[in-house]
Amino acid sequence: MSHHPFSLVGRVALVTGASRGLGWAMAEQLAAAGAHVVLNSRDAVALTKQAKLLHDRGQKASVEAFDVTDSHAAELAVERIVKAHGRLDVLVGNAGIQHRNAIEDWKGDDWDRVTDANLKACFFLAQAAAKPMKAQKFGRIIFTTSITGLLGRATIHAYVASKAGLAAITRSLAAELGESGITSNSICPGYFETEINTALLSDEAFVTRINNRTALKRWGKPAELGGAAVFLASDAAGYITGHQLVIDGGFTSTM
Ligand SMILES: NC(=O)c1ccc[n+]([C@@H]2O[C@H](COP(=O)([O-])OP(=O)(O)OC[C@H]3O[C@@H](n4cnc5c(N)ncnc54)[C@H](OP(=O)(O)O)[C@@H]3O)[C@@H](O)[C@H]2O)c1
Repeated sequence: MSHHPFSLVGRVALVTGASRGLGWAMAEQLAAAGAHVVLNSRDAVALTKQAKLLHDRGQKASVEAFDVTDSHAAELAVERIVKAHGRLDVLVGNAGIQHRNAIEDWKGDDWDRVTDANLKACFFLAQAAAKPMKAQKFGRIIFTTSITGLLGRATIHAYVASKAGLAAITRSLAAELGESGITSNSICPGYFETEINTALLSDEAFVTRINNRTALKRWGKPAELGGAAVFLASDAAGYITGHQLVIDGGFTSTM
């Protein structure tokens, strides 16, 4: 294994929600840093296309298509990864969904759908991943939270609860798994140009409002998140755990 502190050569990383958007951006950069990246989402066709892109660059990738809310499927996928590669070093629990509604229109099913995907699924994936990570005495758990888990925002009640909860689980996992050589951190994005924000991106006034509110005066580009995933997955971040790394162009740190 290379000694460059940011090298991921020899590491195996599972990235959920890797068919597009932030998950794909993180997967791309983990692969570029040398990791074998296992791409997950529910769409096997899209994932196979993305894996081919990485193979064409001479990088290592494979596909595990499953719904993250199916914890049994997640457990089986982790077992297959360990069988194929002998290890699982990095879990990027990134898959997530959004639902917007005024308070009076929220239904229990919508609440459950969002929290199941964004919160519960991440915990049970971490449970599955912790098994091989504990055995190998090394692991990196990285979740994607959101600045809306830090700052209130109207209409997205289940989403903000799921992201604040995920930040809390980041810390409880850090507390429990540290003695096994496993770190647990989250990446907390501000506003990025991805499909989850299609409705917002088509609202010119909102786009401008975010530009003006952000210290860097623009939305983030997905590629600008990948470096943080490489860092937190690497040996360079070996003493960082329980942390939430905010990547928001200064949105939450400035007025
Ligand atoms: N974009 C932003 O500004 C922003 C800001 C803060 C946080 N985030 C968070 O970043 C993460 C990624 O979002 P994004 O912006 O990249 O959105 P996106 O473009 O909509 O991508 C979401 C990804 O999650 C996958 N996914 C959704 N539900 C899934 C499930 N049940 N099982 C497996 N995969 C599932 C989707 O793939 P399939 O549909 O093919 O399954 C897709 O790959 C989310 O957790 C989101 O909350 C985004």
